[in-house]
Amino acid sequence: MRHPTPWTHPLYLSVPAAVALVQERGVPAVLAGLARYIEDDFVRWNDFDKTARVAHHTRDGVIELMPVGDSARYAFKYVNGHPRNTALGLSTVMAFGVLADVATGAPLLLSELTLTTALRTAATSALAARTLARPGSRVMALIGNGAQSEFQALAFQHLVGIDTVRLFDIDPAATAKLATNLKSSGLQVQVCASTRDAVQGSDIVTTATADKAHATILTDDMLAPGMHINAVGGDCPGKTELDAAVLLAAKVFVEYAPQTRIEGDIQQMPADFAVTELWQVLTGQSRGRDHAAQITVFDSVGFALEDYAALRYLYDAALESHTGERLALIPQLGDPKNLFGLLADAPGMGTSQAPASGRWPVEAQPHDGRHARNGEHRAPQRLREPSAHEPL
Ligand SMILES: NC(=O)c1ccc[n+]([C@@H]2O[C@H](COP(=O)([O-])OP(=O)(O)OC[C@H]3O[C@@H](n4cnc5c(N)ncnc54)[C@H](O)[C@@H]3O)[C@@H](O)[C@H]2O)c1
Repeated sequence: MRHPTPWTHPLYLSVPAAVALVQERGVPAVLAGLARYIEDDFVRWNDFDKTARVAHHTRDGVIELMPVGDSARYAFKYVNGHPRNTALGLSTVMAFGVLADVATGAPLLLSELTLTTALRTAATSALAARTLARPGSRVMALIGNGAQSEFQALAFQHLVGIDTVRLFDIDPAATAKLATNLKSSGLQVQVCASTRDAVQGSDIVTTATADKAHATILTDDMLAPGMHINAVGGDCPGKTELDAAVLLAAKVFVEYAPQTRIEGDIQQMPADFAVTELWQVLTGQSRGRDHAAQITVFDSVGFALEDYAALRYLYDAALESHTGERLALIPQLGDPKNLFGLLADAPGMGTSQAPASGRWPVEAQPHDGRHARNGEHRAPQRLREPSAHEPL
């Protein structure tokens, strides 16, 4: 029987496998790990070949492909945004993605990214807030209490030092769900009657609403000096959360300006509206907040580099804890020029050698091509699965 190799059988992380990985490490540790990987990649900004994501817009939502790569790894995410999905019993945001080896083009990891997107978005938000918010920020308003909201609350608790969250959603059931889920978090949870009420007395305001409309969740009369606004929900053309006056009153930070000018809250502003990219602050090339009374806005839309970092984190973590399974995704050929041989009914050529499921438990597998039998597998010796700690 031919043994799978990392080059033909990428690691597959299903939702249950990703859940197991997060439960094993704990949500705070995963958020901290993701923030570290995201920061590490953001400070290497110029190493990456970047592009605004490719979006397919319809009346109901958007489907996007988010690619990015450097000289070692390439990643892409498939993700959608359909605000009316929850009424159908489906998530607004659903995603999966791939991490690949640039030297060979071989996919290394195929992973669920719905849960991971919520974790990486929260980790990015917290990283930005840690960099931009007033030190000593303790109270956060959380407007929009859907799928992303618990992750935002926990990331701000563990990575920024928030101890109190003030919640509002137009759907009281969503707020009740969030309050229940945060019960044992140690956060003080205050349910509020309106956005204005929730924002009152808050140091940080996170908006994570979903509505394909130019909404004005925040208006400038709700702002207080020194506030930091983490605007997560305005993330595609025709979908915003902040009144233009809020942006005019603030210093605005973005992930990748060419994409945010199309998709973020700043889509309402002229093309030369001044913004600073987060990586510039993280590398010390630009200032973050200029003074304590300044209002700062992180106009988050979600950038491919965050998913690249998240996939790197998942890959390292999965290899470390032997989580996931190998998927027969790429043909394993005795002679790589004889692809047709796969179809021939000859011993050693058919796909029948793979388990019926096409999946192999990760523990049962060799980590390089040396275990192949009878010279069937011709992977060169240099093909070696990178270890969890190998630098890119
Ligand atoms: N920036 C990023 O990187 C990023 C990543 C993931 C998701 N998002 C966006 O974040 C938003 C939230 O995602 P989700 O998965 O939590 O969606 P969700 O549908 O699960 O939750 C959204 C919540 O917003 C509430 N809402 C809608 N309009 C509101 C209003 N005017 N005031 C108060 N609450 C309101 C809804 O009732 C719902 O409970 C979406 O717009 C999504 O596209 C952004």
